[in-house]
Amino acid sequence: MEATAHPGSIIILDFGGQYAHLIARRVRQCGVFSEILPPETPIDQLKHAAGIILSGGPQSVYDEGSPQADPKLFELGIPVLGICYGLHWMTQTLGGTVSPGHIKEYGKTKLTIVNGGGSLLADCGDSCIVWMSHGDEATELPQGFTLIGTSDTCKNAAFADESRHLYAIQFHTEVTHTEHGQDILKRFVDVCHAAPWSIESYAKHVGDQIVAEVGNKPASAEATAGKKVFMLVSGGVDSTVAFTLLNQVLGADRVVGLMVDTGLMRKGEVAMIRNAFDALGITNLHIEDASEEFFANLKDVYEPEAKRKIIGDTFLAVQKRVAGEMNINMDDGYMLGQGTIYPDTIETGGTKHADKIKTHHNRVEAIQKMIEEGRVIEPLKELYKDEVRVLGEELGLPHELVWRHPFPGPGLGVRILCAQKPDSVMPDTVTADGLTGKILPVKSVGVQGDGRTYRHALAFSIGESQEMYDTARHLATSVPNVNQQINRVLISLDPLPDQFSFTANYLTRERADLLREADSIVDTIMRQEGLYEKLWQFPVVLLPIGKKDGGQSIVLRPMDSTDAMSADARFLSIDVLKKMSDAIKNHPALKDHIDYVFLDLTNKPPATIEWE
Ligand code: XMP
Repeated sequence: MEATAHPGSIIILDFGGQYAHLIARRVRQCGVFSEILPPETPIDQLKHAAGIILSGGPQSVYDEGSPQADPKLFELGIPVLGICYGLHWMTQTLGGTVSPGHIKEYGKTKLTIVNGGGSLLADCGDSCIVWMSHGDEATELPQGFTLIGTSDTCKNAAFADESRHLYAIQFHTEVTHTEHGQDILKRFVDVCHAAPWSIESYAKHVGDQIVAEVGNKPASAEATAGKKVFMLVSGGVDSTVAFTLLNQVLGADRVVGLMVDTGLMRKGEVAMIRNAFDALGITNLHIEDASEEFFANLKDVYEPEAKRKIIGDTFLAVQKRVAGEMNINMDDGYMLGQGTIYPDTIETGGTKHADKIKTHHNRVEAIQKMIEEGRVIEPLKELYKDEVRVLGEELGLPHELVWRHPFPGPGLGVRILCAQKPDSVMPDTVTADGLTGKILPVKSVGVQGDGRTYRHALAFSIGESQEMYDTARHLATSVPNVNQQINRVLISLDPLPDQFSFTANYLTRERADLLREADSIVDTIMRQEGLYEKLWQFPVVLLPIGKKDGGQSIVLRPMDSTDAMSADARFLSIDVLKKMSDAIKNHPALKDHIDYVFLDLTNKPPATIEWE
C-alpha cells in the first residue's frame, strides 16, 4: 500500500521492534496526529510532516542491512527526535560516534539531568527513572549538540541541538516505566505544532485512506471505478467497528457483510449486533445460521484442539459456500475487509524490521498474499483496542456493544468441556492447610513455564466460611506449584460428593443452550453488582460432571488482566457468589441439569483464562 502522509502529522519512522506503534499511541495521547512510515520513505513524503520521530529498533547501526533513512531529513527544518536506535542513527549520520556499549543495559536506570535538561527534559527535575534497552551508545556527540541527560552506564543518554530542534534520547519515553515519559514526548510535540488528533479527525483520515485504497465511489450505476468490500463480521468489537466504518465511508452499495451464527454465541448476541446495525441504517449484513452444521461436525469430538480445528474449518467452509451463494467472487471486483487491530499484527511480525513471534489468524499465508496484492483493507490496523472502542462510539454504535468483554473466536465452544470417559486419579483428595479438596475427574488446559499443561482441577467445599475461602485462595497458588496433577483450584459453597457422576458429553445444542442461559444469568448479576467494568473477562464454563446421572456443573471464572498474557483471578464476595450460584441452580431451564456451581480461583499462569 502506498504510504499516505497526512499533512501536519508527526511521522514516526519505524526502525523495527514494537516501539513505533506505542510511540504513535503516545503521540495521539498528546492530542496530535501521528503516522508510521518505513525508514526508507522518500524524503518528498516527509516534507509536510510537523515533526519526525526516529523509533528504536532491535539492530545495531553497524549491522549489515540495518535500517536507514534519508539523511536529508535533517535539512527539512522539521523537529526530529531520535529514540534508542533512532539516536544511534542520528548520531552517526550527523557526524558523531556510536560505539558498542561496554555492557548491554536493560531496564530501569536513573537519568541525571544536566544543563537544565534543555526544552525536552524541562519537566524531569534533577533526575528521574527511565527505561533503557540497548547495546550501542553514542560516545561522541555530533557538532552543535549539548548533553542534557546522563546515567552511570550511559554517559550520553540525552542530547539536543535546540537551534535546529534536533533531540536524541537513549531511553524509551513511550514505556510506562519511564517517569515523565509522556511529559518528555509532550515537550517534543509542542515544538512541532502538529495537526490536532481526535477520533473524529481520525475517522475522516481513515475514510480518505479507504477511498484511496478501494477507489472512488462510482458516480453513477454505469460507472465501473471502485471495488466493493466483502467482510466477515464475527460479532466481536473490532469487526463490528470496521464494518460500520466501511459502510459509512463507502456506502451500503459498496460493502457486503457476512456473519456466521455458529450456535456457539452468547445469548442475544446475534440480535444485539443486528439491532445496532439496524439503528444505524446498516442493512447489508447477511446473517447465516449455520449452527446445525457446526453441531453436526462437532459430534463425537472430545479433544480441545480438535474442537478448535473443526470450528475453524467449518467456519471457512460456511463462509466460502455462502459467499458463493451471494455471488461474491474475491478474484473479481472485491476486496476483503478485516477488523485487524494493531496488536494483532505485532506477533506476526507485521512491520518489515520486526521479528516474527506467531501468526495471527488475520495474517495466515493466503491472507498475507492478498495483502501483498493490495486486496485487503484493514481500516483499524493502526489502533489499539481502547481506541477502536472510542471510534465505535463515535460512529454511533451503542456503548454496551463496543465496551463488551473480549470473547474468544470459537465462542462457547472452548467453554463447554467435552470428555468421553472420566479421567480420575487415586487418591482423589488433597489435604493442605487443614482443608481437604476433591480432584475432579476432568482435565483442562493450563500454562506453566512456556508450556501447555492438561491437568485436573481441585475443588474445596467452603460452606459460607470466609476463613476457608481465604485459605483456598492461598492454596490456588501453592497447590499447582507443588502438585503435578493439578493446574486449577476451585471452591463451591455446597458440600461435594464422595464421587462425582460423569456423563460422556460432546458439544451439542442442548449443552450450548444450558451454558448460554447460565452465562446470561452471570452477566446480569455481574452488571447489577457493578462488576462489569472492573473485570477483564468473566467466562462461564460447563463441565460434564455432577451429582446425579447426567448432571453437569458450572464454573465461574472472573478475571482481571490488561493483555490476557497473564491474568489474576478475581475473588467474588461470598454474597455475590451465592447470588450467582442460587440463580443458576434455581433457574427453570437449569435446575434439572446443573448440580454444582464452582468458582475458579486460579491465576494465569498456572491456569489459562479459558478452560480449553
Ligand atoms: P487463555 O485461555 O489462553 O486466553 O488464557 C487468553 C485470551 O484469549 C482468548 N482466547 C481466544 N480468542 N480465539 C480467540 O479469538 C481463540 O481460539 C481463543 N482462545 C482464547 C481468551 O478469551 C482470553 O481473552
